[in-house]
Amino acid sequence: MAVHIKSPEEIQKMRIAGRLAAEVLDFIAPYVKLGVTTGELDRLCHVYMVEQQKTTPAPLNYAPPGYQPFPKSICTSVNHVVCHGVPGEKKLKPGDIINIDITVIKDGYHGDTSRMFYVGQPSIQAKRLCEVTYECMWRGIDSVRAGACLGDIGYAIQTHAERNGFSVVREFCGHGIGVKFHEEPQVLHYGRPGTGLRLEPGMTFTIEPMINAGKPDIRQLADGWTIVTKDHSLSAQWEHTVLVTAAGNEVLTLSPASLEGGTGAGRPAHA
Ligand code: MF3
Ligand code: CO
Ligand code: CO
Repeated sequence: MAVHIKSPEEIQKMRIAGRLAAEVLDFIAPYVKLGVTTGELDRLCHVYMVEQQKTTPAPLNYAPPGYQPFPKSICTSVNHVVCHGVPGEKKLKPGDIINIDITVIKDGYHGDTSRMFYVGQPSIQAKRLCEVTYECMWRGIDSVRAGACLGDIGYAIQTHAERNGFSVVREFCGHGIGVKFHEEPQVLHYGRPGTGLRLEPGMTFTIEPMINAGKPDIRQLADGWTIVTKDHSLSAQWEHTVLVTAAGNEVLTLSPASLEGGTGAGRPAHA
């Protein structure tokens, strides 16, 4: 297993790509309102990326082995959609929760980040799911340091999700990122401490837990992309791109609004 260690020059490019991806989420936040279609959110983000940022939306026509090209520039995953929701004509309605996942390419390097947004007033369960998932992501990030293991990240996420009565999706994981959208290593969101790859300064990967209110099982829709919960329970996801440093980690996909959380959840305080 070859995990690419980024040079200082590459890390600088990853910082720029990461910040730009986060800024797309800041840009789109005010448009995530009752009655807007996910297709319109895609169109707005596409224009912002291509014309304002001069970035390339990585999802557009992305076609990993076994997949048809992804037809849009962002992923929009509403309610029981776990991930890879394809923007379309569906209008957001009161109480919906939506994940918007942005990946940009700038100067050859990828930045990948997603947040949850509420449409109107979420149910108590939906709000708790989004908040706990946000905490799961940060607990995962907080366990990243040189010398720690990948299993430490998965353990931190899994224990927090399950202690709150939620479940961790197993089929999708975080991933190394750089010149390639998805590279080694695979970053599982479940696991046991002290197991798996040992982290080294210069590694860059995403942490992007998908947490279900019900059972962990998922199903792929006929469009070949959209992933939903099998039991139709709600699902939430947050994602940051992270750099391993000697001292700990650096989150590459921060922006002014990212520390408030798209839901207003805030960076959680925890021991
Ligand atoms: N951004 C997603 C991730 O976090 C991948 C989306 S692939 C796409 O890994 F083709 F659906 F965009
Ligand atoms: Co990702
Ligand atoms: Co993503």
